[in-house]
Amino acid sequence: MNREQISRIAHAEHPIKSPIDDASVSRLLARGLPRGDERVLDLGCGGAEWLLRALATRPRLHAEGVDVSADALAQARQAASALGLRQRLALHHRNAQDFVPSEPFDLVLSVGATHAFGGLLPTLAAARRHLAPGGYVLIGEGFWERAPSQEAVEMLGDLTDLATTVDRVVADGWTPVDGHISTRRELDDYEWACWGSLAAWALDHPADPDSTQVLQTATIRRSEWLRVYRDAFGFVSLVLRRTPEHA
Ligand SMILES: C[S@@+](CC[C@H](N)C(=O)[O-])C[C@H]1O[C@@H](n2cnc3c(N)ncnc32)[C@H](O)[C@@H]1O
Repeated sequence: MNREQISRIAHAEHPIKSPIDDASVSRLLARGLPRGDERVLDLGCGGAEWLLRALATRPRLHAEGVDVSADALAQARQAASALGLRQRLALHHRNAQDFVPSEPFDLVLSVGATHAFGGLLPTLAAARRHLAPGGYVLIGEGFWERAPSQEAVEMLGDLTDLATTVDRVVADGWTPVDGHISTRRELDDYEWACWGSLAAWALDHPADPDSTQVLQTATIRRSEWLRVYRDAFGFVSLVLRRTPEHA
């Protein structure tokens, strides 16, 4: 089974591929979409779950998503059609760094996908290129809640603490107008949903040739979470506007 298939099973119970619960997703979207008729772009959209939720509750909204995963985009296309949202959702199968839109966007989202651009500030630089005047950015990024082990840094990258993360964003010319720090429950629920879904799939498909590999993956990833990064990793989502002197 390849990575995409594993990811599809792992996220079956938590289609938002970030440690954020449904109520927090709705609140963050409401903050970034004050009118309801905006043009929204998601860089690293995965299955486009953020966009689907935004479209489903705002009939005048239009959205575009970019991702390198053909499998995730196929899932997004299928879900959009089933929900009657396909006409208002454009999906682009390409590296988000190479995306050239025809028009700017009122909200640019990138949640859990800053690695696509090589980090937080390059992701904000890309978002800025696509942003209409007065627009919003909604970015979700990991941070270190406590000093990480070397192993955690190797696994999750070179993050900073929460205050430093926000300071870097502000110094880059952005003003946070709202935000959400994922709770312990959201962080734990996400990990249990991923590794629990994988383990359950393996137990439910004992005759499948991939069953053993999938159960091993679930066991390894659960153990990495509990042993390597659970105590150190945090996740913050920020709703940003350009600071006037940087606009
Ligand atoms: C953790 S998932 C987050 C998905 C979505 N933003 C969400 O919160 O549900 C990260 C996504 O970034 C995508 N990705 C990684 N590198 C990328 C790149 N260079 N260009 C576009 N997408 C990329 C992955 O395929 C994956 O779907």
